[in-house]
Amino acid sequence: MSTQKFPATRLRRNRFDDATRRLVAENKLSSDDLIWPIFIREGGGEPVEINTMPGVFRTGLDGLAKHVEEAAKLRIPAIALFPVTPPELKNAQGTEALNPDNLICQAARLLKREFPHIALLGDVALDPYTDHGHDGLLVDDYVANDASVEILTAQAINQAEAGIDIISPSDMMDGRIGAIRAGLDGAGFINTRLMSYAAKYASAFYGPFRDAIGSQGALRGDKKTYQMNPANSDEALREVAMDIAEGADMVMVKPGMPYLDIIRRVKERFEIPVFAYQVSGEYAMIAAAGRNGWLDEDKAMLESLLAFKRAGCSGVLTYYAVRAARLLEA
Ligand code: PBG
Repeated sequence: MSTQKFPATRLRRNRFDDATRRLVAENKLSSDDLIWPIFIREGGGEPVEINTMPGVFRTGLDGLAKHVEEAAKLRIPAIALFPVTPPELKNAQGTEALNPDNLICQAARLLKREFPHIALLGDVALDPYTDHGHDGLLVDDYVANDASVEILTAQAINQAEAGIDIISPSDMMDGRIGAIRAGLDGAGFINTRLMSYAAKYASAFYGPFRDAIGSQGALRGDKKTYQMNPANSDEALREVAMDIAEGADMVMVKPGMPYLDIIRRVKERFEIPVFAYQVSGEYAMIAAAGRNGWLDEDKAMLESLLAFKRAGCSGVLTYYAVRAARLLEA
């Protein structure tokens, strides 16, 4: 390294033409890296576009197979399912999460039948189902940890029974990975994988998602007593270490782009597949600027996804999955 000296060394030589640039590329994005989050609503009819996420839709069960067809053709390996629960089915305990016929379970059964090769991620947290919008149970206005873990474990088993392949707890309760692993194993789901939202921050970038699933207006207060402080980095490593010890097969950092430093630290410290969630607010920023003609949406989006690979990710959850795969597979 110390012999690298100008003018004998000219780093621009390796950038001279496209062939050389491709030969020396250190990272590569492909459709194998993509997980596509989708929003499922009740009823039929055409998919409804989400105001704060242009290009992203809430899809009814009727149109679900059609909505997913292109992703299957493009060989996107996994889809993450999020429900838009009608307000009348929400309550303080989020009991709809345990209904074997809730939207997620119905969608999972349908998709496993139509597209058996696509892995399905089930989000484990109560916020789509609670009338207060929190991820767990409220006791005296505090999200109670251990009682929440109990119902989250039941939610995970309910999803596994419906065919969900990868359980993804996004609730940030302490000890939930161990409890869910034990619960799944006890119910015979020894091969159901666990991708933990290990380092999930209390972030303003989730705004459009809460709008999409209809928990925004409902949310009382904020999630700072369970989601992480954006100021912290060492703490993310402690979260990841505990989730691995409890049985996580893969871990996730969320949001994505503002937290690339966390991804890098996790990847350097632990031998485990790391994923990033390019969240709704990140999508909204790129989509809005693109739609205004302020930046080239396709190029900016692909660059942002490649950055996750460079930071150390095995894959990325992104609302751009289909659009990116179209460009990558062309
Ligand atoms: C719910 C959950 C959230 C997201 C995924 N699962 C929101 C939250 O924690 O409030 C955010 C996804 C996104 O913003 O795209 N537990």
